[in-house]
Amino acid sequence: MFQSLDLTDPLIAHRYMVAMRVLHELPGFDWYDSQFLAKFEAARQMLQIVNPGSVASFTAAFDVLRTAPDFKVCHVRPLLGDAHFETLLAEVRALPPKALKSRENAQFGRDIFHDLPALGILQRELTPLVSELAGEEVEPCYNFLSLYHGGGRCPPHMDAPSAKWTLDLCLAQSCEWPIRFSDIVPWPTAGEAATVSDETDPALLGIVFEDHILHPNEALLFSGSSQWHYRDAIPDGGFCHLAFLHYHPAGCADLIDPARWATRFGLPELAVLDAVFDAMRPVAQ
Ligand SMILES: [Fe+2]
Repeated sequence: MFQSLDLTDPLIAHRYMVAMRVLHELPGFDWYDSQFLAKFEAARQMLQIVNPGSVASFTAAFDVLRTAPDFKVCHVRPLLGDAHFETLLAEVRALPPKALKSRENAQFGRDIFHDLPALGILQRELTPLVSELAGEEVEPCYNFLSLYHGGGRCPPHMDAPSAKWTLDLCLAQSCEWPIRFSDIVPWPTAGEAATVSDETDPALLGIVFEDHILHPNEALLFSGSSQWHYRDAIPDGGFCHLAFLHYHPAGCADLIDPARWATRFGLPELAVLDAVFDAMRPVAQ
């Protein structure tokens, strides 16, 4: 189960035992895309036990991934010139059906397509605009096309900071379909927020949400890693086709990837934690 760990080494065996204990006691973090925050919280708890002098600097290094409390969602209308938008739509329509991944139908009622070349080009072109709206220099991360259909919904969740910034572009839709955002909130560490799951009723969160409505060729820039967000089911079994362009602060590639933390911070105990975490709580594919 943990082939990558030499458990005959007493130091590694000790770290393994601590990691198991920390992860066993880690609360919730059961919502879509919660794995980063779960690993961050587990890392802080493990360091508190095995290397307490490193906790403050490790925690502070992630401040760049947190979002300023006064950030407000930006609505860009229109995002593209008419010809540019039509070209993008034509590329999407030309996608062969078999290119679409249907694995998120049960959870979201959507087919997805990761890293469509046309979206990658658009994402790079829009980097200066996103930097301006975000108030910081950003770099593109992943992107995907999301084709919601009759069963489309989006449970309440908070994204990983690899998507600190999301530019959500509406391509086509059968009707207006609000997306709801909380204000900027601190990253949940424990308690109620840490036990949010994909089945949580948003009303139970005790959070005020604000509706935003997109139309084709309009986009929203939001900070999904510090804003709870969700959508109810699409009305009347309709459809909504969206493109998600994700960005993170420039120069933060080592921070957004927990597998790099051990090397980035010179803390080998975090490599043990990462291995144990991935074995105990694998991401569903
Ligand atoms: Fe999200």
